[in-house]
Amino acid sequence: MDLLYKITLNLHSWNRYAILIAGFAVIYFAIRGLNSKTSYNNNSGKSMLFFLSSLHFQLLIGLLMYFVLSPITTHALSDFGSAMKNGQIRFWAVEHAFVNIIAIGVAQTGSILVRKKSTDREKHRTALIWTLIALVLILLMIPMGLMGVDRPWFRF
Ligand code: HEM
Repeated sequence: MDLLYKITLNLHSWNRYAILIAGFAVIYFAIRGLNSKTSYNNNSGKSMLFFLSSLHFQLLIGLLMYFVLSPITTHALSDFGSAMKNGQIRFWAVEHAFVNIIAIGVAQTGSILVRKKSTDREKHRTALIWTLIALVLILLMIPMGLMGVDRPWFRF
């Protein structure tokens, strides 16, 4: 169990970079498409697909850790009341998990709306707005001291 926790924590930790790279790529192709009035092409579609796939993978590992493997969140779930009084534990048990689930929902909604838009300009605009909102939420919830919780940037 301990080994599985270490493996999932490492995967979850490194996959954040896949998410961030793909998210910024979506934004880059959307801005470039809007500025140069080009079509919503393969690059735009592929970066959106990569963004959503890495997010779904993150959600899957996150849920596995949250309910089964992480000593922090499983302990918090067993006594939620006292966990809420500790800011660091609350960050993992509430803020990190729930805000990121909302962010994944926002990104997913954006990709569905992109498919429904009929013009390239509308597709680029929709991809830009929804991905930007999702990325801001994700960046706020990456533990880097902002919320009083710090974690290593790179796990080996
Ligand atoms: C875009 C989405 C997400 C990103 C970028 C993200 C990022 C991270 C990062 C960077 C860590 C710290 C890893 C380390 O210590 O090296 C972490 C830990 C964790 N995340 Fe996420 N996460 C996301 C979504 C989620 C979701 C949706 C859940 C649960 C439903 C979740 C549950 C957890 C848990 C349980 C931990 C480990 C706490 C511990 O035992 O140390 N994450 N996450």
